[in-house]
Amino acid sequence: MNDNRPLGLFDSGLGGLTVFEQVVRILPAEPVVYFGDTANVPYGGRTVKELVELGDRIVRFLLDRKVKAVIFACNTSSSVSIHILRQKYPVPMFGLVEPGARMAVGVTKVKRIGILATEATVRSGSYPAAITALDPEVRVFSQAAPLLVPFVETGKVETPEAAAALQEYLEPLKAAGIDTLILGCTHYPFFAPAISRILGPEVTLVDPAVAMVREVKEELGKRGMLASGGRPRHEFYVSGNPHEFDLLAKRLSPWQLPPAVQVKEQP
Ligand code: SIN
Repeated sequence: MNDNRPLGLFDSGLGGLTVFEQVVRILPAEPVVYFGDTANVPYGGRTVKELVELGDRIVRFLLDRKVKAVIFACNTSSSVSIHILRQKYPVPMFGLVEPGARMAVGVTKVKRIGILATEATVRSGSYPAAITALDPEVRVFSQAAPLLVPFVETGKVETPEAAAALQEYLEPLKAAGIDTLILGCTHYPFFAPAISRILGPEVTLVDPAVAMVREVKEELGKRGMLASGGRPRHEFYVSGNPHEFDLLAKRLSPWQLPPAVQVKEQP
């Protein structure tokens, strides 16, 4: 059985492109409806109430576009709002935390895992809980990195300011002797080369999106919900300025993306 309805995928902005990239690689037949909430980025400093309200409106917007499943391509929403929204909507919802935790626990040899994430994700305690549920002997070291999302959203990934912020955020994790670092925000894979330069080759970087999209494939396969056929058509929506999104997306994504359409009203 095949299901050619699109996958819904959302993030606060450009970070979801790192998840979209994994969807294109691992599930190349799947059409995607992408929503970047660029009028409300960054999510990392927001309250639980705000994150649930924003997530709720976006899920409804995606369901109106007849998506068959929703991918939370944002660690903050995967940590804070997915559990609440799963109760409300009868559609499969996939988050990043559990797959990322499983992948990291499989990688660490010294049982010391670092998490680099937004303030809201760190505050939620989602990753330490998921990791210690899998292996109580693992020690988890969390570091909030509030400046990184704004650097991505303003086109400043490769700047001296970003390099200085990374140095400051990563120093305590390096000192803690981690051998595995979870990139706990979908904007952070854009900094992966710089992070590796600072931490050195002995620290493995884990991008939860890779594990998550593999799990999406497995789960949709079991349910007979995978798409078939030729090249899928993707749609991109943003709540903020679509031209700014297109400009930065072109620099950050290896794929040629359709122009983003602005959703004027809050979705
Ligand atoms: C943010 O917008 O601050 C967060 C995005 C993420 O957690 O992946």
